[in-house]
Amino acid sequence: MTGTNMAYSLIKSILFSMDPERAHDLALKLSELAHKSHLSGFMFSDAELKTELFGLTFKNPVGLAAGLDKNGAYIDALAAMGFGFIEIGTVTPRPQPGNPKPRLFRLTESQAIINRFGFNNVGVEAMIANIKRAKYSGILGVNIGKNAVTPVEKAAQDYLYCLERVYEHASYITVNISSPNTKNLRDLQEGDQLARLLDQLKNRQQNLASKHQHTVPLVLKVAPDLDETQIEHISKAVLDNGIDGLIATNTTLDRDQVAGMAHCDEQGGLSGAPVRLKSDEVLKRFSEHLGSQVPLIGVGGITEGAHAANKIQNGASLVQLYSGLIYEGADLIYDSVRAIDRLTR
Ligand SMILES: Cc1cc2nc3c(=O)[nH]c(=O)nc-3n(C[C@H](O)[C@H](O)[C@H](O)COP(=O)(O)O)c2cc1C
Repeated sequence: MTGTNMAYSLIKSILFSMDPERAHDLALKLSELAHKSHLSGFMFSDAELKTELFGLTFKNPVGLAAGLDKNGAYIDALAAMGFGFIEIGTVTPRPQPGNPKPRLFRLTESQAIINRFGFNNVGVEAMIANIKRAKYSGILGVNIGKNAVTPVEKAAQDYLYCLERVYEHASYITVNISSPNTKNLRDLQEGDQLARLLDQLKNRQQNLASKHQHTVPLVLKVAPDLDETQIEHISKAVLDNGIDGLIATNTTLDRDQVAGMAHCDEQGGLSGAPVRLKSDEVLKRFSEHLGSQVPLIGVGGITEGAHAANKIQNGASLVQLYSGLIYEGADLIYDSVRAIDRLTR
């Protein structure tokens, strides 16, 4: 066990004895404290494995998944842990409180989390102020969504508004249509709605690219709960509309892997170890449809380095972590980079 690992085991035993959402907030504050006291350099390893994608250079291919830093309030502290890129959000046009508490549950025995936060966030303007305050100069993804009060038929307005506002501040922009916690959001993955949304977003991206003289890649984030017909349909819409990348996957509604466990019946999205197989399968299927034309980012259930390497073997160019970080600590970033590095040797 490394020194960082031992320190994390100790902190984790305290955090895991607390209410999950309070522990989540405290963990972010502690990481900021470590960063501000210049302890990050001693606590975290910094793994380099340069990766070029979307015309961008990533320090390493292991990123932070959306949802941990919804408001972009902890960018510097999280970057200091050694991530190759950071994705913040999901952000919506206007601030909103999200769903009532409790809305975050740990399924410790299966290294899993169920959340039904429902895009609690400070709104896009306050997020931009946070981005401007950060000193981080690495790759920053901004994940955008719609407000809960916006009817799903008018969702495009919210996505276009966020796209326009964050364009200048993001290295890439993720269109999140796969959260299970905003009513009917996943409907946007279906039928003509998807093609219409992607067409509008692509047009706006092109207008913004000529205005700002540079293209910010647009990436679509999908659910793991998709059958083959849906995967084919989404792949076609992505290719037809020139979407730049795809993130597979968000959390799952499936409870097969956690049946009978405490909290397994809580509503929301399940993440961590139990989503891994499903996420890997969906990633593989998208990779077969999209080939080398659309780069993939693999996320879901990485709790050890080998899982990250497996996603690369299943067609991902980059990976992201969330739940595994909560259970394993920041060593997981280093372990994942090393495992991916070993693939190329
Ligand atoms: C508490 C929590 C909040 C999340 N919030 C978001 C979010 O706001 N937007 C998003 O695109 N994904 C969100 N996610 C999904 C993660 O980004 C990731 O796709 C998913 O958890 C699978 O990865 P994991 O198994 O490594 O956690 C959230 C996940 C968790 C656990």
